Amino acid sequence: MYDKSGLTTCRVILLNFDNNSLTKTGGHYMRYDFDTIINREDTDALKWEPSVLREKFGEKDMLPLWVADMDFKTPQPVIDAIVKRAEHGIYGYTIRLKDYYDAVIEWEQKRHHWHVKKEWIVFTPGIVPAVNYMIQAYCLAGDKVMIQTPVYYPFGHAIANNGCQVVDNPLVYDGEQYTIDFEDFEKKAKDSRLKLFILCSPHNPIGRIWTKEELTRLGEICIANNVIVIADEIHHDLILEGHTHHVFANISKSLAEQSIICTAPSKTFNLAGLNTSNIIIPNKELRIRYEQVLENNSISGQNPMSIDGMKAAYREGEEWLDQLLVYLEDNVRFMDKYLADNLPHVKLLKPEATYLAWLDFTAITTDDRILERLIFHDAKVALDGGTWFGDTGSGFMRINFACPRSILHEALERICKSVKDYMQS
Ligand SMILES: Cc1ncc(COP(=O)(O)O)c(C=O)c1O
Repeated sequence: MYDKSGLTTCRVILLNFDNNSLTKTGGHYMRYDFDTIINREDTDALKWEPSVLREKFGEKDMLPLWVADMDFKTPQPVIDAIVKRAEHGIYGYTIRLKDYYDAVIEWEQKRHHWHVKKEWIVFTPGIVPAVNYMIQAYCLAGDKVMIQTPVYYPFGHAIANNGCQVVDNPLVYDGEQYTIDFEDFEKKAKDSRLKLFILCSPHNPIGRIWTKEELTRLGEICIANNVIVIADEIHHDLILEGHTHHVFANISKSLAEQSIICTAPSKTFNLAGLNTSNIIIPNKELRIRYEQVLENNSISGQNPMSIDGMKAAYREGEEWLDQLLVYLEDNVRFMDKYLADNLPHVKLLKPEATYLAWLDFTAITTDDRILERLIFHDAKVALDGGTWFGDTGSGFMRINFACPRSILHEALERICKSVKDYMQS
């Protein structure tokens, strides 16, 4: 786990209070409220928009626990920084100065013990765009890129949309947890047309944190076969109790030279709409090639709200994050108990990181059309369908539990009712 210094104390203290009693702890820490339901109607929120729900799920009146943003307000210092910037009233062309880089560097040092150099950091407005630009930078049409399904589906789209071939190294499910098939990985890495491996770390949707040994083994195979590793670590700040995350490039100098690390404040602090990310490339030659593609696409400008919001998040948002993690851990315990008590046929793969959990419905049905009918149409709960993440996701769904517990409870009640009705029919 991180060295949280004083904040470790804060987390321990908070666990000892019941949910509604506290506004201050020890006179130092503000108690953030994750229980209040915030109405997101009329905010153009993708997750809640009825027309989007109708298009994606065939229903518009749904409880949405799908796309990965949170139903919580961002930390107060971020709101204050954005309001202050907005009140200035001029939103002209904006650049990144020392302060921006220092905020990223200090954050990675503090939370991950990773020393990032300023010149390694390349701004890109989002990690999905960055993955697309990397494929353009490092691949020729027809080249191959490896992923590990079930995995965040825009990876596959980015590979295909840029004229390359998807190579899958499917994760192996033993009915409890997923592991990597290293023999298959190595065999596929030996293909001379395989140029890139997109590592999802921590992994979305299965919620695993890869061990140092697993990451090292993957990295060594990639080095031996000249495969560049894109480590998408967008979820690396959302590490749940009892687990340790290793930044891929922080494991050894040779892994750092072989990889590109993608981080962002977007998942951590609920800033996805600000479209910002940090693409960190220690290897100079790889960095120059990537920067050239950004230049070719005229990617240089920066949204002033993103800069100020991001700086405030990294500099003043840590206390909020530690309280958020406690709330998320409690939501996992809540889901686990609810399912064990009410719907033991549905298995929750306990996430080690992220606010996304992978639900195994295969004991109910292996027919995805039936599963979608039960969840989307009968329960009217919007979850990410398992097959969105690849064929290997069949029989599963992904739930986003970054919401007030009352919403999570309501979603579980609805799912439970529709599944029980089906089982009794
Ligand atoms: C693994 C992963 N990468 C990238 C993204 C999206 O990144 P961005 O919004 O910066 O494009 C997500 C969002 O859910 C994600 O889970």
